[in-house]
Amino acid sequence: MRTELNIELPGGTYPIIIDASQFAISALKNRLSGKKIMIVTNDVVAPLYLQEVTDLFAGHQVHHCVVGDGENHKSVDSWLQILDELARCQFNRSDVLVSLGGGIVCDMTGFAAASWMRGMDFIQIPTTLLAQIDASVGGKTGVNHPAGKNLIGAFHQPMAVLINARTLKSLPAREFNAGIGEAIKYAGINQPEFYNWLNIHQQAIRDQDEEILLELIARCCRFKAAVVESDEKEQGIRALLNLGHTFGHAIETVTDYAYLHGEAVAVGMVMAAELSAQLGHCGSDIRKMLENLLQAFDLPIMLDANVPAEDLLQLMKADKKVINDRHRLILMKGLGAAFIAEGIANEDILTTIESCQEGQS
Ligand SMILES: NC(=O)c1ccc[n+]([C@@H]2O[C@H](COP(=O)([O-])OP(=O)(O)OC[C@H]3O[C@@H](n4cnc5c(N)ncnc54)[C@H](O)[C@@H]3O)[C@@H](O)[C@H]2O)c1
Ligand SMILES: [Zn+2]
Repeated sequence: MRTELNIELPGGTYPIIIDASQFAISALKNRLSGKKIMIVTNDVVAPLYLQEVTDLFAGHQVHHCVVGDGENHKSVDSWLQILDELARCQFNRSDVLVSLGGGIVCDMTGFAAASWMRGMDFIQIPTTLLAQIDASVGGKTGVNHPAGKNLIGAFHQPMAVLINARTLKSLPAREFNAGIGEAIKYAGINQPEFYNWLNIHQQAIRDQDEEILLELIARCCRFKAAVVESDEKEQGIRALLNLGHTFGHAIETVTDYAYLHGEAVAVGMVMAAELSAQLGHCGSDIRKMLENLLQAFDLPIMLDANVPAEDLLQLMKADKKVINDRHRLILMKGLGAAFIAEGIANEDILTTIESCQEGQS
């Protein structure tokens, strides 16, 4: 089973190929002829899929770069490791980087591709649900800075995204569920009907029913592609994809990544719903609806009681979207009706955080 979508941008069109069991490289073969390939992966994914993916490029000179696993390795050091390897193997702008891994490997490889010789081609082969439905699509690349998540980066689109849903079979359940957090995000932004679809198919999704999983991935890639096509560089509507993320990134940083990205986004969306209700944009039912669906996938809906709310707020102030101490956040007028809210005060955020902490009702 296979679905192919295209993402059409001013700089060119690229395919997202979603296959149930293959790494569908054949469509790209012509464009790769004579090129050197470097596959970037990490030490968890390498033993699982590196040999199989290397074999896809038979006939090419293939190099590997294996970075460390985890958000603490989404760093300038790992990015430099990739560049050092490109230098050592004498890659030039016409060669190709391939990412093989979750969102972290996808983001870092994309950033290495964006920066090596001012930009080279790369192919995304995402192997987590989160990366397949979100991180690998749309061209946002980057690494973390100690001051915060994704503070260093560039927009750089891949030449293709190759999704092989079979790779999800080796993914731990907690990571799979974290990916569902981002799927629920699309429902919250502008897809109320998708909320019902996720609700109806809960069990089939958890069981990784092949047909349902392919449909889930294809739907999410279509949602994301449509947003990116209308606003590639986030000058307007693309910001909606940050629903739950300003809170979420701060939660990741303040807890030193004790929450997975999708888990932090889950709590962040609950906070966004709470703040929306607090400011009178929607009723309290929106928070409840989100919580019900998130909990169905074992996702957290409350922040750990030990995290000082004030620390979280301080980190949110360091976010890219704060002007004169007033925050710009994605809020909701209803489920599937997200909007960009400007000028939100610190006190309102603090009250929201406190009402979404364990021990509160
Ligand atoms: N660029 C974007 O638009 C965008 C969008 C959303 C998220 N992100 C970024 O993505 C990152 C999160 O991505 P993630 O959730 O994929 O995390 P991740 O990359 O850390 O992967 C999760 C874990 O699963 C392992 N893994 C990967 N594939 C596997 C497989 N098939 N089987 C077994 N284990 C496997 C990884 O090594 C890791 O330990 C964050 O840094 C976030 O900022 C970027
Ligand atoms: Zn995200």
